[in-house]
Amino acid sequence: MRMKTITLEIDGKEVKAEEGMTVLQSAKNAGIEIPTLCYHEKLEPYGACRFCLVEVTKGKKTRLVASCCYPVEEGLVVKTSTKRIIKNRKVLLELILPIAPTGAHKSLAEKYGVKESRFPLEPGEEPSYCTLCGLCVHYCDKIKKWNAVGFQGRGIDRKIVLMSGIGDQCIDCRECYDICDAGKFITLAEEF
Ligand code: SF4
Ligand code: FES
Repeated sequence: MRMKTITLEIDGKEVKAEEGMTVLQSAKNAGIEIPTLCYHEKLEPYGACRFCLVEVTKGKKTRLVASCCYPVEEGLVVKTSTKRIIKNRKVLLELILPIAPTGAHKSLAEKYGVKESRFPLEPGEEPSYCTLCGLCVHYCDKIKKWNAVGFQGRGIDRKIVLMSGIGDQCIDCRECYDICDAGKFITLAEEF
């Protein structure tokens, strides 16, 4: 079945998209970059990190939405880097950096000019190298169908663990290493 073509505007540019696509997908196709932390093209988006927030205007109403989950609509006006959005991303980076201060998060912080965080770790607390974005859990469940990685605990005790009964497949796979931008799997390496 032929998909309906939708016309929307992203950052002042007219963009054509197929019905059912998300704002993030249509922006990517149009060469407009929206930063993400919990999006993977092989997975259904689940909107956990809120780093991909954009402003959408429909009629007289403007609001912030997660672009990875928000479907394109005819006539939608999208802005990807207004002051409000940048401020939001900076606060998210301030929250993330003490927990996961290396790799992609460090680069993003540099890009957004975030040098310090107003939310430091408690004295004696170590970075967990995990933002609880859930990518490793979803990927192992939906793509690999192994459920070898999971969440454990609740609230501030919530963490990522390798589940019991991991087989040789993990030794050969390790795709979660590449998926995780926060460095968690380096700290879990001895469990493999
Ligand atoms: S270990 Fe990495 S991929 Fe998994 S939830 Fe934590 S930050 Fe996300
Ligand atoms: S990438 Fe959209 S909420 Fe994380």
